[in-house]
Amino acid sequence: MSEPASPYAARVRGLNKSFGDGSSRLHVLKDVAMDVKLGDITMLIGPSGCGKTTLISILAGTLKPDSGTQELSVLEQDIQKLSTGQITKFRAQNIGFIFQSFNLIPTLSLAENVSVPLLIQGVGARKAEQKAREVLALVGLGDRSKSRPNQLSGGQQQRVAIARALVHEPRLIICDEPTAALDAKNGQVIMELFENVARSKDRAVLIVTHDNRIFAHANRIASMDDGRIVEVHDIDASHPLPENLKHGFHQ
Ligand SMILES: Nc1ncnc2c1ncn2[C@@H]1O[C@H](COP(=O)(O)OP(=O)(O)OP(=O)(O)O)[C@@H](O)[C@H]1O
Ligand SMILES: [Mg+2]
Repeated sequence: MSEPASPYAARVRGLNKSFGDGSSRLHVLKDVAMDVKLGDITMLIGPSGCGKTTLISILAGTLKPDSGTQELSVLEQDIQKLSTGQITKFRAQNIGFIFQSFNLIPTLSLAENVSVPLLIQGVGARKAEQKAREVLALVGLGDRSKSRPNQLSGGQQQRVAIARALVHEPRLIICDEPTAALDAKNGQVIMELFENVARSKDRAVLIVTHDNRIFAHANRIASMDDGRIVEVHDIDASHPLPENLKHGFHQ
């Protein structure tokens, strides 16, 4: 495999995001700078309402930043320059996004839900469903592929959303609280799948989480507070998980 041209899955500088106008204007992201490296599992932590979902939605191209952002590159693509149509296509090919609220389609079976990213890429329905069933098996739901989302527990629905984000083998997986509804065993299974993704070195995983059970899987932990990245810890053999994070993160 050839070396990727850039070591970054995402690079952000001077990113601002506000909601609303006039006196009701809310400045949510304040000059955010952040790097997500290829080959890494990066975790983004911080109190409720500090802007985590807003930031990852901008990286996934589902939300536009304020004008004047200095740099917003995702997989070497300046996504500010893309039209809405181009960004939809870019996302479909390159990003697996796991929403905080799962966003499964209630009228489709699990296999059909997980097939959606492949169908968007033009894979035939039968082949897509076969691949979807394989990935459902990886998340422990191989025997439920014909069920509908409303027949599942919250943790099972979360695993379907994860299968859907993995099925088309995107280079960047972005997830909002992927293990919040999972027990320890299933959380471990999911983190092993994410570690497999990051091991390929030209892919990356970015996880928003409050779940200190999974911090040990991070290569980098970025802490956010009030719309800013306030601390970044790189974790490796010589830089273990900081004590304050070992004891968990409290909102
Ligand atoms: N579409 C929107 N319109 C107006 N305000 C919004 C919108 N989306 C988010 N906000 C506000 O932006 C702030 C950050 O929200 P965000 O969802 O990014 O927080 P978060 O860090 O993901 O929180 P949580 O941990 O609870 O999910 C909040 O004050 C929220 O009310
Ligand atoms: Mg959120």
